Amino acid sequence: MTRMLLLAMPGNEAMASRIAMHIPADIGGLETRIFPDEETYLRITSDLHGRSVAIVATLDRPDAKFVPLIFAADTARDLGASKIGLIAPYLAYMRQDRCFHPGEAITSRSLAKLLSAKFDWLVTVDPHLHRYKSLDDIYSIPSRVLHAAPLIANWIAANVENPVLIGPDAESAQWVGDVAGRVGAPFTVLEKTRLGDRDVEVRIRDGRVISSHAPVLIDDIVSSGQTMLKAVRLLRQTTAIAPVCIAVHGIFAEGADAMLQAEGARLVTSSSVPHPTNQIDVSALLADGIVALA
Ligand code: R5P
Repeated sequence: MTRMLLLAMPGNEAMASRIAMHIPADIGGLETRIFPDEETYLRITSDLHGRSVAIVATLDRPDAKFVPLIFAADTARDLGASKIGLIAPYLAYMRQDRCFHPGEAITSRSLAKLLSAKFDWLVTVDPHLHRYKSLDDIYSIPSRVLHAAPLIANWIAANVENPVLIGPDAESAQWVGDVAGRVGAPFTVLEKTRLGDRDVEVRIRDGRVISSHAPVLIDDIVSSGQTMLKAVRLLRQTTAIAPVCIAVHGIFAEGADAMLQAEGARLVTSSSVPHPTNQIDVSALLADGIVALA
């Protein structure tokens, strides 16, 4: 693999540096600032001519990040980059995968079209694939999906004694089962009904296995935190042991992290979205995907 040039969008500098420890890559210079009228200024200060470039941009809170990202991709192309990849540890909008009511935007599809037009390849970690079988259903560029399950399993094995793994809904059964198999621990899934953006109900099917183990809730995304909150409250009625809540992508909208901690939950996330709870680093995982595609 020839030396790649990594450009970090604001907030992604640490992840870019960690990725560069796993692959032959240089870190390029990218500056942005906001004009008084709130438009974006962007400048790439490295020589990109003929180089394979990857832009590191995790896409939580995506709307404000999207326009600068497109400016960076276009500028890299103008400066002669031979290829431009997108490393998005968290890929946004994947939960909007269906038109639930007439006239609704299927935003996952729109975002996929826009990004596919600007980038040559895409690497991400555990995108929310529910109704789509793979990213190829909506992205027209080559992509690599990396899975955090083995890293989550290692973390649990090293940090939790006698765990039971708990998925918040039926959807999570397959990969919570996968993590449980790797840890050699029992698992169960709860029943979830989503009533609104910030309104979910969670029920427990069988609390017996939970009451005799240390509960570890696992979800792919914590956004409003309501799914975890309702699950934590349910578990607190079932066992005296405070639960560990593990999310691949800790978005923690509207102070969801403090809300969950106030319920006595210990929060653990992967580094896909920078947050003080990051304990599972996905940079080596991303590096594997980059090597496969670039
Ligand atoms: C949903 O299908 C996902 O797997 C998560 O359970 C969901 O995104 C969590 O959202 P929130 O934190 O807003 O309840």
